[in-house]
Amino acid sequence: MFIDTHTHLFLEHFSEDIDEVMSRAIDRDIQRFYLPNIDRSTFDEMMALAGNYPGKALPLIGLHPCSVKEDFEEELSFVDKKARGGGFFGIGETGIDLYWDKTFFEQQRESFARQIELAKELALPIIIHCRESFDEIFEIVDRLNDERLSGIFHCFTGDLSQANRIIDYGRFKLGMGGVLTFKNSGLDKTIVDVPLQHLVLETDSPYLAPVPYRGKRNESSYLIEVAKKLGEIKGVSIEEVAEITTDNANEVFNFG
Ligand code: NI
Repeated sequence: MFIDTHTHLFLEHFSEDIDEVMSRAIDRDIQRFYLPNIDRSTFDEMMALAGNYPGKALPLIGLHPCSVKEDFEEELSFVDKKARGGGFFGIGETGIDLYWDKTFFEQQRESFARQIELAKELALPIIIHCRESFDEIFEIVDRLNDERLSGIFHCFTGDLSQANRIIDYGRFKLGMGGVLTFKNSGLDKTIVDVPLQHLVLETDSPYLAPVPYRGKRNESSYLIEVAKKLGEIKGVSIEEVAEITTDNANEVFNFG
């Protein structure tokens, strides 16, 4: 079985055909779907999907860095209140994004640090979005990391020294998605040197569809393309990729 550790199947992109999307993924033995929330506006849809697929579609609560705006204090109190109410499998999606918009950089840093503190307090894993922001992310994690902090650097696209720095934190995995299949991403050359035990699979649906679906709407069934590519890079069977990445995901999410 496979686990999609990061998929936004509750977004409007799937409102017409979510049950078909779920069936296609389950048919390909993707058995669990971790759903990082974006912000207050996506929360109800996420909970509805989780309610329709209990034990399979598993909600996380957090504030996405691209949703950090003027009202981020209200967004963060929403996250805090929901997280303390229980029923969530992690804190996320959080982190820092300097690719799309740097206007709220200071607020993004503040939001990220506060979600780390919340994750530590509640002993939940954290899902980190790190787009063009490794230095800023590392600065904050260096300061706040302790034995209560664990999680995933989602959509990892860094170099080997960045991979090793994450591994050295001790309780973090690197999320592998569609970018791994992109020609010229160079990520394959980095991942050759990163042991499988540090990697988990993800799609980030509806974004970043793997080859041969690149540019289309991504969905969780396409996780298989990422798994295949990872098997090629590491010289192991897809069954071995499934087994090890599932163990890794279970470790991060304290499953079973
Ligand atoms: Ni995401």
